[in-house]
Amino acid sequence: MAASAKAATHKPGVASTDTRALLEELNGEAAKFNFWLRTELNTPSQRAWFTDTAGTGGGNLLKAGRVSANQLKALPCHWAWKDYGPYLEKIAKIAADATVPLYELTDRQSILLTNPGLGGRLQITSTMRTAISVYIPTDKAPAHIHSANASRTILTDTGGYTNVEGERCECRRGDIIWTPNGTWHDHGNESETPVMWIDMLDWPLLEYLDAAWVDMDYPAASGSNDTVQAAAHSDGYSTRLYGKGGMKPRFVSHQRGWGHSMTPMIHFRGEDIRASLDALRGEAGDPYEGIAMQFVNPVTGTSIYPTMDYGAQLLRPGEATKQKRETSNTFVIVMDGEGYTEVVDKRFTWKKNDVMVLPNFLWRRHVNTGKADAVLYTVSDAALMRSIGQYRAQGRQDDGTVVQLGV
Ligand SMILES: [Fe+2]
Repeated sequence: MAASAKAATHKPGVASTDTRALLEELNGEAAKFNFWLRTELNTPSQRAWFTDTAGTGGGNLLKAGRVSANQLKALPCHWAWKDYGPYLEKIAKIAADATVPLYELTDRQSILLTNPGLGGRLQITSTMRTAISVYIPTDKAPAHIHSANASRTILTDTGGYTNVEGERCECRRGDIIWTPNGTWHDHGNESETPVMWIDMLDWPLLEYLDAAWVDMDYPAASGSNDTVQAAAHSDGYSTRLYGKGGMKPRFVSHQRGWGHSMTPMIHFRGEDIRASLDALRGEAGDPYEGIAMQFVNPVTGTSIYPTMDYGAQLLRPGEATKQKRETSNTFVIVMDGEGYTEVVDKRFTWKKNDVMVLPNFLWRRHVNTGKADAVLYTVSDAALMRSIGQYRAQGRQDDGTVVQLGV
């Protein structure tokens, strides 16, 4: 049969077996030149896990197709303090008994959370890494600098410090200390008891962008071999500069680190966060989030980082939020109270110091089952999704109607 007659019997756009075989043969030659002659539909390398209008949004595979053999999808996951806390105690004991500081061997004394959907990678979502660290008395982590944005949320009542570009922040429970990218920082514990905190970083995102780096070569003052920074400002410097809100000082630079739009408010006190939430407890709040507040860069009014968004929310006794889903991933730290979070068909029953990851676009809601207030801190990649024009949120009302929520 002539080639032209043969081609006429086929549907447009569909190659015959012979034609495809020809292309595949060429692909055998082309591989060494690092390109591919298209022989089939160029489907995404990841399967769709949900759609906007169909399916349960439960993270189930919805379609077959040509996909990567190593498909990864963050799954909802809950880490209970009763499970992970004892390991921090064990690490502290091993560190106390070690003949050389344990962190010199392991870099940090911490556990790193792994999402069961991400194949053992040290990340909780495609964008965020979470470590939970313990520093025993006399520990000193040398000054360093990196391209990742980071924070630490303090779990223990007192003890420990982080020095960010000379601002020495003494740690207390509920505090959040931010280290914007390109800021020198060091940590330590000069108290009598171990300190524990949760480190959040946008490290996986930077790795994906091929832009992750760390520099440990702190330029110590002339004549000194110090690996830690001298305190240039006393504790509370950030709060004095920016803590009142609505006013910013005119006599200092608001630039921190090497990045752009990074918060110059380095340290937010747990007691101030709680007081801010308490002051609003009489308001109706958000039906999907309760009394929810966003931490912002006090100079720009935007998210703390362009990549990560931080929040705190109060759920009053008995309060149950309506179902919500967002295109961003959210990490939750239970600072106080008890209750549960439903995420599609899972229910995570939580208490103080438990943490959870709620992956993108899965329906979820929170319920405070206790007699006291529940306080949740959140870290999400909503800021990133907003900045690339991909942030969306939906709410589900009691009758099942789905409404689009504001951005
Ligand atoms: Fe760091």
